[in-house]
Amino acid sequence: RMPPLAACYNLMDFEAVARQVMKKTAWAYYSSGADDEIVSVICVHLRVDIFSTLSNKTNTIEPQTMRENHAAFHKIWFRPRVLVDVENVDLSTTMLGSKVSIPFYVTATALGKLGHPEGEVVLTKAAHQHEVVQMIPTLASCSFDEIVDARQGDQVQWLQLYVNKDREITRRIVAHAEQRGCKGLFITVDAPQLGRREKDMRSKFSDTGSSVQATGGDDVDRSQGAARAISSFIDPALSWKDIPWFRTITRMPIVLKGVQCVEDVLRAVEAGVDGVVLSNHGGRQLETARSGIEVLAEVMPALRERGWENRIEVFVDGGVRRATDILKALCLGATGVGIGRPFLYAMSAYGLPGVDRAMQLLKDEMEMNMRLIGATRIQDLNPSLLDTRGLLGG
Ligand code: FNR
Repeated sequence: RMPPLAACYNLMDFEAVARQVMKKTAWAYYSSGADDEIVSVICVHLRVDIFSTLSNKTNTIEPQTMRENHAAFHKIWFRPRVLVDVENVDLSTTMLGSKVSIPFYVTATALGKLGHPEGEVVLTKAAHQHEVVQMIPTLASCSFDEIVDARQGDQVQWLQLYVNKDREITRRIVAHAEQRGCKGLFITVDAPQLGRREKDMRSKFSDTGSSVQATGGDDVDRSQGAARAISSFIDPALSWKDIPWFRTITRMPIVLKGVQCVEDVLRAVEAGVDGVVLSNHGGRQLETARSGIEVLAEVMPALRERGWENRIEVFVDGGVRRATDILKALCLGATGVGIGRPFLYAMSAYGLPGVDRAMQLLKDEMEMNMRLIGATRIQDLNPSLLDTRGLLGG
């Protein structure tokens, strides 16, 4: 029996419901991480989960360890300020020049129709309702134009790009995205080869829910799971020397998605890009690659030391499940955070109302936690509100 939407009180609740109601292959693709899934598995906290509180049955879900991407946030503690007038809290800010109501965005996740028959446009509608940015994946199940057509008003979308071996295809995709009003180009740089996701491979994927757009080839080998089947066009030869070329083909801000250490962030600044996403791809690529929040703690001091902190916008994704996670990233110096699986799970379980509620829960948490930390505006957030000794091992 499906719990009512109102019984979901946080983002983990959606994961618990989705796990029960999703098709096995879809669950396998969305939830899987690389190898032993040390970095990626978040899931079901405590023994008291949403099902056992609703029915009196004993827990139907085996609780899993809170794993690293989310757990990394727990190594950071707050140092709140008291007696600050926090009656009026404003969560709005800008990301890559676009105004947003709260500094999280819907990050790119492939194959939306595995979870919901309408696919990515469900996320487009929810993002519009909440004035947050949606990053459109290259490997969406809806066509790029369907997702752009679902945009309303001055809603902001970015394009996530997997770079095709055929650069002419890449050039056309980017030009089309710019012409259709996308406000940012996110080049995924952590996936020269797709990671080994064994749960996905075992589930013997047979149907992506629709044809995948823009892959530039349909020689699909379905025996290796959904991820492998759709990714063979990605160019493993992509390198730093290709980055200047992107400047010549677009005026959109360029962001490298999947940067994982300070050396590469400095190199990205030198390459003149507008931003980086510190990310281990939701733990789906290199197993035991550090989580974005850990990398952020290493990156921001190095940027500040050089006076470079305003030369690029730094985003983080991976394991963001609570507004306190968002706050910690912002205090460390991130411009915004990406959230992936929770919105997929909310969409798969409850459709648009689910994603709407997930976003509202995060906003409510954020407003409350801003008050409790003693900050009223996003620009008030700074490292002195944190104790990061646990993260930095000091
Ligand atoms: C992803 N991610 C991803 N990233 C990307 O650049 N291109 C892609 O096509 C996909 N596809 C994709 C599918 C699924 C099912 C997941 C879960 C993730 C990675 C994604 O953008 C982001 O880095 C992580 O999902 C963030 O971690 P959380 O929020 O899912 O923990």
